[in-house]
Amino acid sequence: FSLFALGCLLLVNQAASDDKAVSYSGYQVWTITTRSNEEHQFVLNLRQSYGLDVWQWHEFQPTDAATDVLIPPHLISELQLKLNEANISYVVKITDLQSAINDENPNANSNLFETKAAHKMDWTSYHRLDDIYGYLNYLAATYPNLVELINIGTSYENRTLYLVRISNATAPDTQPAVWIDGGFHAREWISPALATYIIQQIVEEPANAKLLNNIDWYIMPVVNPDGYEYSHVKSRLWRKTRSKTSSARCIGVDPNRNFDFKWGGAGSSSNPCSEVFKGSKAYSEVETLAYSKFITSKSNQIKLYLSLHSCGQKLLIPWGYNREYPSNFDDMMTLGKCAAFKFKLFKYGVGNKVDLLYRAAGNAADWAKSIGIEYVYTVELPTTSFIVPAYNILPIVQDFFPAIDVFATKIATLK
Ligand code: ARG
Ligand code: ZN
Repeated sequence: FSLFALGCLLLVNQAASDDKAVSYSGYQVWTITTRSNEEHQFVLNLRQSYGLDVWQWHEFQPTDAATDVLIPPHLISELQLKLNEANISYVVKITDLQSAINDENPNANSNLFETKAAHKMDWTSYHRLDDIYGYLNYLAATYPNLVELINIGTSYENRTLYLVRISNATAPDTQPAVWIDGGFHAREWISPALATYIIQQIVEEPANAKLLNNIDWYIMPVVNPDGYEYSHVKSRLWRKTRSKTSSARCIGVDPNRNFDFKWGGAGSSSNPCSEVFKGSKAYSEVETLAYSKFITSKSNQIKLYLSLHSCGQKLLIPWGYNREYPSNFDDMMTLGKCAAFKFKLFKYGVGNKVDLLYRAAGNAADWAKSIGIEYVYTVELPTTSFIVPAYNILPIVQDFFPAIDVFATKIATLK
């Protein structure tokens, strides 16, 4: 039984029926290149009328812009025809998405960890939530003077929302702090992997001890645990939360459109079936509410905010609700470029979110900037797909880590 047979154009993510995981057999990803405003508009119209899942696009760059689109098997010949007629060129970037998914995480079920309690972590495969939380527990138990496990609430499906505080300060909340999160969007698996890697490097690698001089770290690897688990067991491309909406057949809110700053503006949708559904109101989601409450409680301390997403290799600077720059934009740009200069394997673009991507009102980074956090970045990690083979995790996270030092050096001087 395929929901696509019903012709639900806006049903971008297939709902998993019963226990069976969704298959992406025969699905392709195309990179479409447009040369003019007209061609760009043509592709955006296709997206609209077929309800296509667009993995990457540029709202204000019609010329030579690459748009990555997920193509379901039953639309392949029809869309080929449409693009050919319009004389628009494209390349097939992924010929069979299910094969890519099958090859992505070969050690997924190999039971690397004997116990679900306290244990170590590795970056040679993607891990389920239990493993990630088990590692955080292990660190808190092993380094009690350094690591505090903080529970900030419960997800819609009753999973605990954990983050860690890493600090060697004797008096709490007195030093400048860095906030880092991952796992806003369920399918962006490389982001929790990087967040846990950063935790490991700060806590367990003696050579990085200097990162604890005058800085507290708050790191939350999985902001949207319900979605994350769903993307592991049911539907690899799940993005949103898992809450019920006003529509019986569409689940979930885009947590990165659910924040109380310019909520409901451009780049968000009021359609519960949309991948960028803003929710019934700002903070309709328990996850975003708990997150905003915690950050607000530390907003005097937090000087730098990094929200980790994928994909696209970009360091993005607010605002994202509109094509405008905050007053310290140049400062954020300078620091962002210094940090990106450290990347050797992957080349990141640095710039304003709307200049480099598209508008996204109600996103978390805009909100963080709006409450006065000085340096705010959204990171789009490598590569240019959500499906990143597990053997690439280490190269990506190791390439990124030196940037943390650049950020820390700057932040340690702020009081
Ligand atoms: N891919 C992320 C999203 O769609 C990044 C958004 C970055 N912000 C922006 N305003 N473009 O939520
Ligand atoms: Zn994302």
